[in-house]
Amino acid sequence: MKETILTGDRPTGRLHLGHYVGSLQNRIELQDKYKQFVMIADAQALTDNADNPERVRKNVLEVALDYLAVGIDPEKSTILIQSQIPELSELFGYFMNLVSLARVEQNPTVKTEIKQRKFGRGIPAGFVMYPVSQAADILGFKATVVPVGEDQLPMIEITNDIVDRFNTIYGKVFDRVKAVVPKNARLPGIDGSAKMGKSMNNAIFLSDSSKEINEKVMMMYTDPKHLKVSDPGHVKGNMVFTYLDIFDPNKDEIEELKNQYKKGGLGDVVLKKRLIGVLEKIIGPIRSRREELAKDPERVMKILEKGTLEAREKVQETLEEVRRAMKLDYFE
Ligand code: TRP
Repeated sequence: MKETILTGDRPTGRLHLGHYVGSLQNRIELQDKYKQFVMIADAQALTDNADNPERVRKNVLEVALDYLAVGIDPEKSTILIQSQIPELSELFGYFMNLVSLARVEQNPTVKTEIKQRKFGRGIPAGFVMYPVSQAADILGFKATVVPVGEDQLPMIEITNDIVDRFNTIYGKVFDRVKAVVPKNARLPGIDGSAKMGKSMNNAIFLSDSSKEINEKVMMMYTDPKHLKVSDPGHVKGNMVFTYLDIFDPNKDEIEELKNQYKKGGLGDVVLKKRLIGVLEKIIGPIRSRREELAKDPERVMKILEKGTLEAREKVQETLEEVRRAMKLDYFE
């Protein structure tokens, strides 16, 4: 029996190179070894976009196009839309009784996110609870493997607390889950900030045109003190080298270029041109597949419908077990 993976994204924008490095490549590998469910978490996106349903709706298709274009294969992975599986909300409701408010409020990731969004006490209750919703997503599919970034590790702890609590009170239904942190480095933004973000104006999207890639790489943060070609430059913290390290297959040449740059005599433009070529090689084929798929959105929606139906059956099975365990099986 293959173990089950659950992973997903909030549909609040198109996916970018940070997603590609941090999760998409990993999913393409994992879909051969595991039973993989890939969730478009539209209900979760609404936790801080309640007043913007159009944004969420529109990006469900955008994210699906990104998935298919990079090679998440609907024959191998099941792609689903979260809101169309109401059993997940039901499970979320039951799980909320198994977690204390203090426990969710302590979650360092949620704390930071609340600060970033500047909600203060006006924070939607649903947003504060999203780790519990995420536990329902994972356990609804009886997933035991969850690929996550470092910052998501507290979520997995909450999930396992819920597993233990549920099993102790109602009898064993769930297995504990394992987080797997992908080995790849996190991709910083083109401005040099720690993270590439959808709405931080520092992202290169998988759907960007050649022209956009060009402009963005040309704006990339390098070494502000490297003014003349002949000046010695810094490699560390220089985004062009950071990206070349990640994306350029020719490691030896990059080492040589680094040495040259440190000594002086190598200009940013030469390096940026190289990076543009490297990125175009990766994004070019993704972009053309995406454009092809985008011509037939109905076909893409059919793929999502089929995946969601299959996924729902799995969650329905879990919920039958859950209701039985919780003595909520009145009319069977
Ligand atoms: N929070 C994830 C994101 O923002 C999406 C997500 C929803 C998820 N439910 C999940 C990820 C469960 C892992 C497990 O991209």
